[in-house]
This record gives sequence, structure tokens and C-alpha cells, in this order.
Amino acid sequence: MTTTLLRGRILDFRREPQGPDDHDSHLYLEDGAILVADGMIEAVGDYADLRGRAETEIDHRPHLLTAGFIDTHIHFPQVQVIASWGAQLLDWLNSYTFPEETRFADADHAARMATRFFDELIAHGTTTAVAFCSVHRESVDAYFTEAARRNMRMIGGKVLMDRNAPDGLRDTPQSGYDDSRALIAEWHGKGRALYSIAPRFAITSTPKQLDAAGTLAAEHPDCHIETHLSENRDEIAFTAELFPEARDYLDVYERHGLLGPKTLLGHSIHLSEREAAAIAETGAHPVFCPTSNLFLGSGLFDDEGLRARGIVSGIATDVGGGTSYSMLRTLDEGYKVLQLRGQKLHPLRAFYWITRGNARALGLEDRIGTLEPGSEADIVVLDSRATSAMALRMERAETLPEELFVLQTLGDDRAVVETYVAGKPQKGNAAA
Ligand code: GUN
Ligand code: ZN
Repeated sequence: MTTTLLRGRILDFRREPQGPDDHDSHLYLEDGAILVADGMIEAVGDYADLRGRAETEIDHRPHLLTAGFIDTHIHFPQVQVIASWGAQLLDWLNSYTFPEETRFADADHAARMATRFFDELIAHGTTTAVAFCSVHRESVDAYFTEAARRNMRMIGGKVLMDRNAPDGLRDTPQSGYDDSRALIAEWHGKGRALYSIAPRFAITSTPKQLDAAGTLAAEHPDCHIETHLSENRDEIAFTAELFPEARDYLDVYERHGLLGPKTLLGHSIHLSEREAAAIAETGAHPVFCPTSNLFLGSGLFDDEGLRARGIVSGIATDVGGGTSYSMLRTLDEGYKVLQLRGQKLHPLRAFYWITRGNARALGLEDRIGTLEPGSEADIVVLDSRATSAMALRMERAETLPEELFVLQTLGDDRAVVETYVAGKPQKGNAAA
């Protein structure tokens, strides 16, 4: 058995903080330690109580140790689309994104991009992500092969898209079904990999393909389902033209059996009363993608309105519509989006959201997103003084929430000192 003790300041959420003064929602230890045994968390406590219990000790003081960040919506084949100028959703897809995704039919290209994609996740402290791969099986193989090499708990799947996309980027209802089935058999549950069935969005699937996606979902109830919903006004109007029989956008997915507690609905911005009620009833999860929603001019997510209905939303980068791999940058932009709506994102809830909250949206709270004993040892080490501007601001920070707010407002990959995946340092900065 390999044992490691990580020493530092420890922050771990037990449940969602209800407000700035909800001290019982989390554990905070000033001189704490995490005991890791064979990739799992065995104990968390004061350093004084755990010292000497492991073969190796790594001292991360004065840094902060939390569960690794979780990104609940990102596009693997868009690593070279991020930062493409001047368009809103549909033009952006047609001008930049679709042409780029055609390149992922090439297994060598996909493999090279996978290495770089995972390097970025690790650099930014993200230890689990839910990714859309391209329509090609090769892209999914590249994605999960690289994830397995790093032993990361990753979720992903091939996008299903059989219309309104260029040559080289369309499957058919049958081939999409067959390829997804084969990929599920190959990858789902292998090591830490989990498969998500991924009808890209209503516009790029025929009703026949959505039927096939619904069949896949019924046959594989333990797979996630990821898609996009009500991101952009033109997208919504086009969807209504394509599906005149549907009551609204959500109904396109609902009538094909694609809504349930394992469903992740990227964006979910412009929802009707009926759609919000149906999301609540089915237990599906909207995913807030603030950097993308601002970059593509899509709109302002209604976090408070959804929460008031008991809906559990995720938060995510949506690279390459999103403009940063960093969940800290994502929180910063999310805070500003909610300010524009007159809503508040408190730093305690913000850090809960990118860890345990996203794990909850994924139904994986028992495995990731926390430092509780029995969890997988995915851990991030954060330096609140990583830049001179942060260090200067930190001179005046007196409380943990203040420190977290500095991290979420000013932090990025420079604040991520180390990223542990199943107990192993991956970023390469761990002090021996
Ligand atoms: N809707 C359908 N595909 C995409 C995509 O790749 N990015 C975003 N932001 N929205 C989408
Ligand atoms: Zn997306």
C-alpha cells in the first residue's frame, strides 16, 4: 500500500453553504492533513493527529487544499477554437467550430490534442470534466485513452449529429447508435471512465436520431446524457422551426426520453415557466457556462430562479465557447453575470459549486468533489498569493471567505500549485 500525507490548510464542503455565515457547511483546518492510501482518501484531520501515519509527507503550507475542481461541460475538440472572434452561437459553430471538429477524424490529431487538453485541465486544477468529443469514434478513443493514462475520472462521449453540419461531421441515426454502443462497451466503467450519451443539440439531430439517443439512454441508464438547451435566441427560433410539434425547446428532448437526473443541459438560459418546471420535475441539471454566455453574447443564467425550484445546476467552462479552462475564472465571470441579474454568488457557495456541488449534479458525490474518507484522492493545492496583485490584496484579507473571493476573482492557473489525481501529483510542483 502506498501512503502519502498532504499537509496544509484544508477546506472541505459537507453540504451547500446557505449563506456567508453558514460555518457548519464546511470543514476548515488551519494546520490540517489528508492521508491518502492507494489513491483514496483514508483520513482528514489535524496534522498533529495524522503525522507519522504515511510513508511520504508533502508539506504544502501555507497553501489551501480542496477537492479537485469539476467542469461539467466542456468540448474536447475545441482546444483550437477557443478565442475565435466576432460571432454569436450559430455563426460561431458554422464558421469556426464545425470546420475544426472535422479534423478529429484523424486519430493522430485527436491523440495530440488529447494530451494538450488534459495538460490544460491539470494546470487549472480540474480533475474531472464532462466533455463532448467530436462525432468521430477516434476522438472518444483519444480522449479516454489519455484520461486512463492519467487515471482521471472523466466523463465524455461522441456527439450525435446527423443534420445541419458539414460533410465529415455527420453520422446517421444507425451509425451514431452503433458507434455510441461500441464506445460504451469499450469505455464505460473501465478504470475511472464514464460514458455520456451526447446528442449535440436539437438543431443537429433528426427526430430519428433523437429516438436512437433515447433508446441508448434507456439501454444504459447509468450513463450520463449531455446536450445543449436554450442558449441563444436564433438557436431557439430555428429549433421551433425544425420541431413544430414540440411544445418548446425542452420538449424536443423530453419526448425522446432524454430527460432525467443524469441529464446535463448546457446553458439553459432562456427558459419558459413550463420548461423550468419540467426540469425540476425530472431532476435534470442545467449547467451555467458564464464565460461562454458572455463571450457568445448568449444571455444571463437565472441561478436564483432555478434554485428556488429545487433544481441543482452545474457550473462549467464550455471551452471553446468559453474563454478559460479555469474554474476560478469561471466563478469570476459567473459572479458578474449574476450581479447583472441582481443575484449574489457568495465565495463559500462558489467553491462548493466547483467541487461538491458539481459532483452532486453528476450524482458522484460519494466518489469525487469532497475530501471525505472513502473519496477518490483528487485534490488541488491553491496559492492565494500567486500573483503580486493577489498578494497585495491578501494583506487586507482577514477571513476565509475573503480569501476565497480573492482566489475566485483574481486567480487562474497560476494559483494552482499542484493538482493530485488519485493521490498522485500531476502538475509537477509538489515539494518533496
Ligand atoms: N450548441 C451546440 N453545439 C455547441 C457548442 O459546441 N458550443 C456551444 N457553446 N453551444 C453549442
Ligand atoms: Zn457546449
